[in-house]
Amino acid sequence: MFYLMTLILSVSRCCSYVSCSKHSNVSTISSCLPDQTTALLQLKQEFAFVKPDFSGYYYRCPLVGNSHYNADIYESYPKMKFWKEEKDCCSWDGVTCNMKTGRVVALDLAYSWLQGPFPSNSSLFKLHGLRRINMAYNNFSFSLIPSDFGRLSKLPHLDLSFSMFSGLIPSEISFLTNLVSLDLSCFKNYYASGLLHLRKIDFANLIQNGTNLSALHLHQVDISSSLPESLANLSSLTSLRLGGCDLHGKFPENIFQFPKLEVIYLPCNYFLTGFLPQFQPSSSLKKLTLDYTNFSGILPNSIGYLKSMSHLILRNCHFVGTIPSSIWNLSELTFLDLSWNDFTGHHQLPSTLGNLAKLTVLSLRSSQLIGEIPFSLRNLTQLNYIDLSDNNLSGIIEFGYFSRLSNLQILSLSSNSLSVTTTNINSELPKFAILVLASCNLSEFPEFLKTQDQLRELDLSFNRIKGEIPKWFWGIGNNKLELLDLRWNELHGSLIVPPLLTSMFYFRISGNNLTGRIHPSFRKWTSFKVLDLSKNHFDGTIPQWLGRLAGSLEFLNLKENNLQGSIPLISTNGSMHNMMRILDLSHNQLRGKVPQSLINCSKLQVVNLGHNQISDTFPFWLQNLSELQILVLRSNNFFGPIWHPHKYLGFVNLSIIDLSFNHFSGSLPSEYFRNWGYMSKAPDRNKSDMASFGKSQVESNYSFAYMYSTSMMSKGLDMELMTALMIFTSIDLSNNKFDGEIPSSVGDLRSLIVLNLSSNSFTGTIPSSLGNLTELESLDLSKNKLIGGIPQQLENLTFLEYLNMSQNQLTGPIPQGGQLETFSYSSFEGNPGLCGLQLSKKCENTDATISFHSKEEESESENGFTWKVVVLRYGCGLVVGIIFGHVTLSRRSCWF
Ligand SMILES: *[C@@H]1O[C@H](CO)[C@@H](O)[C@H](O)[C@H]1NC(C)=O
Ligand SMILES: *[C@@H]1O[C@H](CO)[C@@H](O)[C@H](O)[C@H]1NC(C)=O
Ligand SMILES: *[C@@H]1O[C@H](CO)[C@@H](O)[C@H](O)[C@H]1NC(C)=O
Ligand SMILES: *[C@@H]1O[C@H](CO)[C@@H](O)[C@H](O)[C@H]1NC(C)=O
Ligand SMILES: *[C@@H]1O[C@H](CO)[C@@H](O)[C@H](O)[C@H]1NC(C)=O
Ligand SMILES: *[C@@H]1O[C@H](CO)[C@@H](O)[C@H](O)[C@H]1NC(C)=O
Ligand SMILES: *[C@@H]1O[C@H](CO)[C@@H](O)[C@H](O)[C@H]1NC(C)=O
Ligand SMILES: *[C@@H]1O[C@H](CO)[C@@H](O)[C@H](O)[C@H]1NC(C)=O
Ligand SMILES: *[C@@H]1O[C@H](CO)[C@@H](O)[C@H](O)[C@H]1NC(C)=O
Repeated sequence: MFYLMTLILSVSRCCSYVSCSKHSNVSTISSCLPDQTTALLQLKQEFAFVKPDFSGYYYRCPLVGNSHYNADIYESYPKMKFWKEEKDCCSWDGVTCNMKTGRVVALDLAYSWLQGPFPSNSSLFKLHGLRRINMAYNNFSFSLIPSDFGRLSKLPHLDLSFSMFSGLIPSEISFLTNLVSLDLSCFKNYYASGLLHLRKIDFANLIQNGTNLSALHLHQVDISSSLPESLANLSSLTSLRLGGCDLHGKFPENIFQFPKLEVIYLPCNYFLTGFLPQFQPSSSLKKLTLDYTNFSGILPNSIGYLKSMSHLILRNCHFVGTIPSSIWNLSELTFLDLSWNDFTGHHQLPSTLGNLAKLTVLSLRSSQLIGEIPFSLRNLTQLNYIDLSDNNLSGIIEFGYFSRLSNLQILSLSSNSLSVTTTNINSELPKFAILVLASCNLSEFPEFLKTQDQLRELDLSFNRIKGEIPKWFWGIGNNKLELLDLRWNELHGSLIVPPLLTSMFYFRISGNNLTGRIHPSFRKWTSFKVLDLSKNHFDGTIPQWLGRLAGSLEFLNLKENNLQGSIPLISTNGSMHNMMRILDLSHNQLRGKVPQSLINCSKLQVVNLGHNQISDTFPFWLQNLSELQILVLRSNNFFGPIWHPHKYLGFVNLSIIDLSFNHFSGSLPSEYFRNWGYMSKAPDRNKSDMASFGKSQVESNYSFAYMYSTSMMSKGLDMELMTALMIFTSIDLSNNKFDGEIPSSVGDLRSLIVLNLSSNSFTGTIPSSLGNLTELESLDLSKNKLIGGIPQQLENLTFLEYLNMSQNQLTGPIPQGGQLETFSYSSFEGNPGLCGLQLSKKCENTDATISFHSKEEESESENGFTWKVVVLRYGCGLVVGIIFGHVTLSRRSCWF
C-alpha cells in the first residue's frame, strides 16, 4: 500500500501518450458544426452516468513503478452531464475541435462515469475527424469493443483502458494503420483472467499495420502468444506495456536497442524468456520492469549507461551472476528492486550507495548481500521502503541509524545475521507503518515502539524476546495494529490480550511457552483472519466462541498445546460465507467426535485433527467440502469402515489423506479410488511447467498481497503450511485394521507420490496397476498378508526412492533390471518365498546378471521415507502459496 502510494506520489502524471487535454479555452464564437453537435448529443444519450466501483477488479500484476494504472488518483466526474446544446460543442468539457473546420478532433471522456454497454452503432463513429479518443476508466458493462473502431482508420490515439469492455478485441483494430498510441489495458476478473482477449493473428496484424506505434499498452489483455517478429520493426516505440498478457517465447533482444524506447513494462508474463543486451549510451530507457518473468542471464555492466533510468524492477526473475557495480551510479533511480533472483557471489552494498539520492524504494531481498549496511544509506532521505531481508548482512545496527530517514515507512531487515539494538536512540525515528524485524537477535521488546503510533504491521518473530508481554506493548500503533507476529520467541506467562485491537486480522504467537487458557478478549477481535497459537502450553478447552469466529477466521492453528475437551461447534453465524480454510487442532488431547458443523466451512482446504483422542467413525460428510486438499486424522481412535455401500466417496481436490494409526477396519472395493479427482489427474512431469504452474496460480496473486500488505507477504509460509500446499499427493492408511484386497483402482491415482498401506491385513496379490503410478516415490506395503509375485510392472516406477514390501507372504523372483533392483534386502525381507539377488535365496534360472548395486541410498531409505524427500524433489524455487481471501502469501526460496 505504502509502496504503491510512493509510486503514485513520486511519478508525476504522464501526459505524453494518454490524452489528458482538458477542454481547450476556446473562444465564444460558435464554431462547432451542427452534425458534430448532433452526434455528440446522441452519444450522451447512449450512457447512464454512474460512478464505477472498480474495487472488485484487480490489477493482478504488480503495480510496482506504475502510477499509470491507478484509477484513484485522477479526478472523476460525469463530464457529459454538463454538455448543453445552447453552448458551442467545441467548448464542452472533454471536446476539442479543429477551429478551422469546426470538427471534433479529440474526445477525452476518461473517468467520466459512463455506464452501460457500448453500442455497436454508437454515434461516436459519426465523428470522422477524430484524432484522439480517450474513454479510459468508464464502465461499458462487459460489452464488446465495437468493430467500428476499425473504421476510424486515420485515428492516431485510442485509449479504451480499464473501461470494462470484455471479450475478444475485434480484428478490425488492426485496420488502424495510423495508430501512434493504443491503450486497451484491462482488469482481470476474480479468476485472474483478463477481461479482454486478443487473438494471436490480430496481435500480429496490429503490430504489422501499426508501423507508427509509439505507445502500445495492452496490460492484462489475454494474448497468450509469443511476440510477433514484426515488433522488431516498430522502431518509433517509446512505451511498451504488456504486463500480465501471458506472453511466452523469447522477447526480441533488439527491442532494447530502440533509440526512443523509454518504458518496457512486461511483468507477470511467467513464460516470457529473454536476456538483457549490452546497452548503448544512446539508450533512452527510463523504466525497465520485468518482474515475474522468466528473463535470465546476467545483468550487463553496461546497464550503467542508462543514465536516465528511474525504475529498475527485476524482482523475481532468473538473473544470475553478480549485481554489476555500475548500478550504483544510476543516480536517477527512484525504484530499485532486484529481489528474488538467482544471483550468485557475494554483494557488498557499496558505500557509494549514497549516490542514489532520489531512491524511494530499495528492495534487495534474497540478493546474496554480505557485509554491513553502509553508513551512506542514511543519506538517502527520500527512502520510503527498504527491504534487505533474507541476505547475509552482518554487524550491529543501532536502530537510531534510521532516524534521518524521515520518509521511511516500511522497513524489513529480517533473516540476516544482523543484531539490531534499540537502546540509546537519541533522535526521533520515522513513523513506521510496517516494521519487519524477524531474526534480528532482539532480546526484548524495543522501547521505541511505544511512540510508533502509525504502526500497522509488526513482525518480531524468531528473536529471543523473553518473559511476559508488557502491558504497553498492546497500545502500540494506537491500538490500530493489524498484523502482529511474535512467533518463536521465549515468551511465557498467560496471554492476556486487550479487547481493543479490533483491526487485528493476523496474529501469530506460536513457538513460545505461553500457558493458561485461550483468552476471552480474542472474541472482540472481529477482523480476525489468522490466529496461530500453536506450539505453546495453552490448556483448558477450546472455547465455544472460537467456533463462532469461524465466519471470518480463515486460518486457525492450535496445534501442539494441551487443549482438552471436545472440538467446538463451528457456527456459520447465519452467514453463507464461512471463510475457514485451514484448521489445525493436531497434537492436543481433544476427545469426542468431529463436529458435523464443520461442513459449514465450505472453503476448508486443510483439516488436521491428528494426534488427539477423537473417537468417531469416518466423517463421510467431509467429502462435501469440495476444496479440501488435506485431511489428517492420524493417531486417534477412529474406527469402522471408510467405505460404505450407500455413501458415495470421492474427493475432488484431495491431495493428502492420512488416516494412519487408528482402528479403521473393513475392506475396500476394487473401485474405491475411482472418483478421487485430483489424485487421478494425469501428472504433469515437466518440471518447468510445474514451477510455472505454481507461479502463475499463486504468484499472480502474490503481487496483490504485495500491494495490500508488504510484510504480510514477506512472512512467507511456515514449513508446515508449505508442506501442506505442495503439489503432491499422498495416501497413508497404515497401522489400521483394513483387510481384503488392495483396490486395483489405486492405479487410477496417477499423481500419487506416497502410498503407505503397511501394518494392515491386506490380502491377495499386489495389483499390477500400481505400475501405472509413475510418479510414485515411496511405496510401503509391508506387514500385510499379501501373496503372489511382485508385478513386473513395478520396474517402471523410476522415481521410486523408498520401497518396503517386507513381512508379507510374497513369492517368486524380484523383478531385476528396472528400478526394483536398486532396493536392498530390507525392502523385501520377511517374505520366505521371495528370491532374488538382494536376498539370500537366489532364484533359479534367473537371467538377471546385472550387477546389484545398493549404494549409499540404502541407509537413507532404511531411515524411512520422510516428507522432506518429496519436498526436495520440487526443491528450490517452487512457489507455494495459500490464499487468505483475496490476500495471498507466497514466497519463493530454498527451504532445504
Ligand atoms: C480563456 O478565455 C477567456 C475569455 O476569452 C480569457 O479571459 C481567459 O484568460 C482565457 N484563459 C486562458 C487560460 O487562456
Ligand atoms: C458497471 O455497470 C453495471 C450495470 O451496467 C453494474 O452492474 C456494474 O456493477 C458496474 N461495474 C462497475 C465496476 O462499476
Ligand atoms: C443503434 O441501433 C439501435 C437499434 O439496434 C437503434 O435504436 C439506435 O437508434 C441506433 N443508434 C444510432 C446512433 O444509430
Ligand atoms: C492493414 O489494414 C488494412 C486496412 O487499412 C487491412 O485491409 C489489412 O488487412 C491490414 N493488414 C493486416 C495485416 O491486418
Ligand atoms: C507515420 O508517420 C509519418 C510521420 O509522422 C507519416 O508521414 C506517415 O504517413 C505515417 N505512416 C502511417 C502508416 O500512418
Ligand atoms: C552524506 O551526505 C553528506 C552531505 O550531503 C556528505 O557530506 C556525507 O559525506 C554523506 N555521507 C555519506 C556516508 O555518504
Ligand atoms: C516453559 O514453561 C514451563 C513451565 O511454565 C517450564 O517448566 C519450562 O522450562 C519452560 N520452557 C522453556 C523452554 O522456557
Ligand atoms: C494402466 O493404464 C493404462 C492406460 O490408462 C491402462 O490401459 C491399463 O489398463 C492400466 N494398467 C493396469 C494394470 O491397470
Ligand atoms: C515399462 O515401460 C516400457 C517403456 O515405457 C514399456 O515398453 C513396458 O511395457 C513397461 N513395462 C511394464 C511391465 O509395464
